[in-house]
Amino acid sequence: MSGQPLTYLTTPIYYLNGNPHIGHAYTSIAADVLARWKRVSGAEVFFLTGTDEHGQKVERAASEAGMAPEAFTDALAGEFKAMAADLGISNDDFMRTTEERHKRACAALWTRLAEGGHIYLGHYEGWYAIRDEAFYGPDEIEERNGQRVAIASGAPVEWTREPSYFFRLSAWTDRLLAFYESTPDFIAPSSSRSEVLSFVRAGLKDLSISRTSFRWGVPVPGDADHVMYVWLDALTNYITALGYPDLDAPRWKFWPADVHFVGKEITRFHCVYWPAFLMAADLPPPRRVFANGWLTIEGEKMSKSLGNGIDPRVLIAEFGLDALRYYLLREVPFGNDGDFSRRALISRLNSELANDLGNLAQRSLSLIQRNCDGRLPDLTPPTDADRELLSAVEGLPSGVGDALDRQAFGEALERIWVVVRLGNAWIDAQKPWSLKKTDPERMSAVLRSLHTALRGLATVLQPFMPDTMAAMLDQLGVGQGDRSLASLATPVPDGTVLPAPTPLFRKVEVAA
Ligand code: MSP
Repeated sequence: MSGQPLTYLTTPIYYLNGNPHIGHAYTSIAADVLARWKRVSGAEVFFLTGTDEHGQKVERAASEAGMAPEAFTDALAGEFKAMAADLGISNDDFMRTTEERHKRACAALWTRLAEGGHIYLGHYEGWYAIRDEAFYGPDEIEERNGQRVAIASGAPVEWTREPSYFFRLSAWTDRLLAFYESTPDFIAPSSSRSEVLSFVRAGLKDLSISRTSFRWGVPVPGDADHVMYVWLDALTNYITALGYPDLDAPRWKFWPADVHFVGKEITRFHCVYWPAFLMAADLPPPRRVFANGWLTIEGEKMSKSLGNGIDPRVLIAEFGLDALRYYLLREVPFGNDGDFSRRALISRLNSELANDLGNLAQRSLSLIQRNCDGRLPDLTPPTDADRELLSAVEGLPSGVGDALDRQAFGEALERIWVVVRLGNAWIDAQKPWSLKKTDPERMSAVLRSLHTALRGLATVLQPFMPDTMAAMLDQLGVGQGDRSLASLATPVPDGTVLPAPTPLFRKVEVAA
């Protein structure tokens, strides 16, 4: 046993019905920041992402592309893997639901539910939206422009009638309500919690969990006419990756998941169906589901017909990956809906990254180069003025950790920027450039305090901007093994030779 705390984090698995876009990147980046934060905090982390490859939606997309679903999903899964790599996502595994290990896990979970008496064969008759891969009740649909659509999502629904296996979800209403009551942090933000609570309070109906009208899915054990409902298949991915059904698998220790990151439109599946399936299989439900809001693009809803689903790679090429990661988590309070705008990204890159943080580092490190022969000045007992800066920096790991444990990414960044701004005000007040002749000892002490502050800032910012903060820590002379939160307690040795600083961020001109 390592004795490290264990953390299991997941992104949704993305449908393979189109190319990855900024909406997918948003959820994955948020989850990645928390995964990286937990690692620098000393936890043993397992972080999962992947692709949701079965179901009618994917089958249709394949046939529209004139391809067999196998070849189609192989090609698109490659795109999503490449996106994860391009975004710097530090996942420990990538689940494809077409993998054998996953089919095995789904079959095992099904069998377990069936043996426990939670599944029965019946007949499904009702409205189905392929776009949402969801069933809707008669009160959840309406007519718009001559077409029947789901009220919540606007997705067209089709009348479906076929034999189906059902999960006895109705039996779980009270147990789910008791579970939400006893674990108030299970669903966040509170808007999602209220939505789920009112859905469950209205009483749950049994859930259709198999389909006979198409073949692209995991076969139901013992009944080859049926494939599993794609959401039962998809949700199971979170335990497949840990080795389910082998509860002695080395990774099983990570269950239950600490946070499932999801978009707000899929909370019902994660907060109602998933804990019910798990509890019915005698497995503990996840600890928390956090639902992020939806991004619009320059004020417009992202949609296939508008073709405005920006490819994150285009933005990375234009602004750099770390500016994109920073902007996405800084601009909109995580959990709220928000807008992606180039102008807002450029403004934050120029003012907060290049000016506030970049210049603070550049000014401080250039003074050390010029006035201290490029060597780190010695640590000396701090004055009251030093303490003002240093104690603000020392408070960052717990302040940032507290915000991130609530997935308040924007608040975490604001706490960090309070210190960045303090650093700039502090250097202006201390004027180390004017001390060289009058008080060289104080100049050295001031530069050393700035160095300590920059190291603290770079350390807590690593999860948000991994590449740039690695470069900043290199410039600060912090060894590869000294970049965890715990290592902040060990000062960089006096006299360490620092490389000549180079600017961390590149400003971008705003197009007129
Ligand atoms: N396959 C299901 C999830 C199964 S998880 C067991 C699915 N896939 S999806 O590709 O349609 O969407 C996945 C996620 O992408 C959403 O939940 C959301 O997190 C993210 N987003 C997709 N478009 C988005 C925006 N426009 N804005 C923000 N996030 C969005 O649902």
